[in-house]
Amino acid sequence: MAIPKAELHIHIEGTLEPELAFHLADRNGITLPHTDVHALRDAYSFTDLQSFLNLYYELMDVLRTEADFHDLAEAYLTRAAAQGVRHAEIFFDPQAHTGRGVSLDTVINGLASALDTSLERHNISTSLILCFLRDRPATEAMDTLMAARPHLERISAVGLDSAEVGNPPEKFTEVFAAAAELGLRRVAHAGEEGPASYIWQALNLLGAERIDHGIRCLEDPELVSHLAATQVPLTVCPFSNVRLRAVATLADHPLPALMEAGLLVTVNSDDPSYFGGYVHDNYRGLQEHLGLDTEQLRTLARNSFTASFLPPERRRALL
Ligand code: HPA
Ligand code: ZN
Repeated sequence: MAIPKAELHIHIEGTLEPELAFHLADRNGITLPHTDVHALRDAYSFTDLQSFLNLYYELMDVLRTEADFHDLAEAYLTRAAAQGVRHAEIFFDPQAHTGRGVSLDTVINGLASALDTSLERHNISTSLILCFLRDRPATEAMDTLMAARPHLERISAVGLDSAEVGNPPEKFTEVFAAAAELGLRRVAHAGEEGPASYIWQALNLLGAERIDHGIRCLEDPELVSHLAATQVPLTVCPFSNVRLRAVATLADHPLPALMEAGLLVTVNSDDPSYFGGYVHDNYRGLQEHLGLDTEQLRTLARNSFTASFLPPERRRALL
């Protein structure tokens, strides 16, 4: 039985398994530029973040209707339950859909129709985190935030993802301030491929309450001390870092160093369909390749609830 845990860094579009992609393509009369499921899986060989993002955005084209977004989320929740997930804060990328003519209502209503029954069906509480694409203009992010206002009761936070280098957090200062005004929590990808200075910006300019990835904080001892003192959590994604070559092998992953430095570290799957495993597979990988013991895995699971945006009552029930 997988240890109970929260998942805080999961892109719903990154849970699209090849089998479901072909099924949805058929349903929507779309021809994918891959002959079959095996050929598609073979394409899952990445050299960096951008090489992954190219395929990630391409495959999203099969997501067209509310039913498609429902089926995507339901498939994730089914797998997550089997991995011991009891709470999930789920990223989605509205601009990746509205930019190709799928409305925000279609995306959110479709996802929500699966999330609404998640507690009864899967014993998983959920919320959505609306991510801005950092390689698109800040004005577009602001328009997306404003368009999302009718849906805010389903959205716990805003986030920042996509191509990091050259798109520093400072670009989104005003958008994150507007999100805070609307009562949303704030998280941001920083220090995945980008430098430690992007983590400082996410903290100081965006008011980020969690840093997604953040592994490059280790290049700045002052930043490590700051993260340890403030206990701003990192949502670390070991399989992702290896597949996108931010880290050479799992045995070289800096997660133990981050824990030893006293940081509030969590383990997550990022884009599990593309990176070779779901969240508990990541925990097992750490056990096998880095020798983490049961006590350390329990600490990571406990951290995942501590770092969540759960209301106090459900947090107490799960901890
Ligand atoms: N990094 C940045 N953007 C992303 C990722 C990621 O790991 N996954 C999906 N969008
Ligand atoms: Zn991510």
